[in-house]
Amino acid sequence: MIGMRIKGLGKAVPKRTVSNDELSQLVDTSDEWITSRTGIRSRHIATTETTTTLAIEAAREAVVTSELSKEAIDLVIVATVSPDTMMPSTACKVAEALGIEKATCFDVTAACSGFVYATQLADSLIKTGIAHNALVIGAEVLSKVVDWKDRGTCVLFADGAGAVVYEGTEDNKIYHIVTGSRPDGAEQITLETAGFDHTFYEREEVKPAIKMDGKGVYSFATTTVPRSIEEVLSVASYSADDVDWYILHQANSRIMDRVASHLKISKEKFFKNLDEHGNTSAASIPMALYDLSPKLKAGDKLIASGFGAGLTWGTMLFEW
Ligand code: ACO
Repeated sequence: MIGMRIKGLGKAVPKRTVSNDELSQLVDTSDEWITSRTGIRSRHIATTETTTTLAIEAAREAVVTSELSKEAIDLVIVATVSPDTMMPSTACKVAEALGIEKATCFDVTAACSGFVYATQLADSLIKTGIAHNALVIGAEVLSKVVDWKDRGTCVLFADGAGAVVYEGTEDNKIYHIVTGSRPDGAEQITLETAGFDHTFYEREEVKPAIKMDGKGVYSFATTTVPRSIEEVLSVASYSADDVDWYILHQANSRIMDRVASHLKISKEKFFKNLDEHGNTSAASIPMALYDLSPKLKAGDKLIASGFGAGLTWGTMLFEW
């Protein structure tokens, strides 16, 4: 195989939705603040669903729509920062639930860039002949790692999963992917792992919760994302206008508008579904691709770009 293309898509969200007004009963915030600063109006929050069940549901739909047999899938990667277990990986649990046997399965942690990182790995393994068809999933239940008393974060993060089946092909539709990191920004978004009852090691019990320097991340995103988009465009000899749709990580509507204005292209080309979904970290790009897909025509060119904790970024140029 010399490349891969998208063959199937899936999406899953918890049933329960939580509006901005409902959040304003929990913390000192308002629909006006959240909508004007972020563009988020509502989000799905898990009540019984888990990262694993959402990943399985999205993956099952992607495999069915791909029309590939489960035997044909030999690689499963889940991008997540909110796995239910570190062992086994979420990818192994998805493979088990779907009856995918003998696939290489692992999880990737690159926060909101995770889906693009996972796609880059699938692309490399398919192009080198190690894998043939890949199931790549972004899945999060961030509501379990949010401090529901911190209005700076709890109004932003939410739950969901998106899945893509990539088929190895003779014609390459995933043109170019760049990923990177800026570890000097490591403290700008953090989520510690849960504390353990150490017998020997002295360590305070940690209750995991996302902490974020919103302004710092905003400034990182609005400078790094346009640069990485320009890098992918230049490798493929495309102009920003040649791209039909931009799918940015759904963190903040204002970030997307700033990137559009930097690239001097219409804001209308930036697909947004964060008004209904909030920031679902690694799940946001495949969920947005799923929601955009009814509007896509064969041959459309797309850019997807994730950015987040690490600090990390990942941008890909591909054809529908
Ligand atoms: N409701 C009401 N007021 C609030 C809220 C809230 N929910 N949250 C903060 N405020 C207040 C602050 O306390 C502050 O008040 P003060 O001026 O009295 O001190 C004021 O609003 C302004 O706060 P800022 O943090 O400066 O608000 P800002 O305009 O920067 O918006 C936001 C904050 C939305 C978080 C923005 O900075 C942002 O989107 N940053 C990027 C986040 C991002 O992209 N993350 C992606 C990666 S996520 C990942 O990797 C898991």
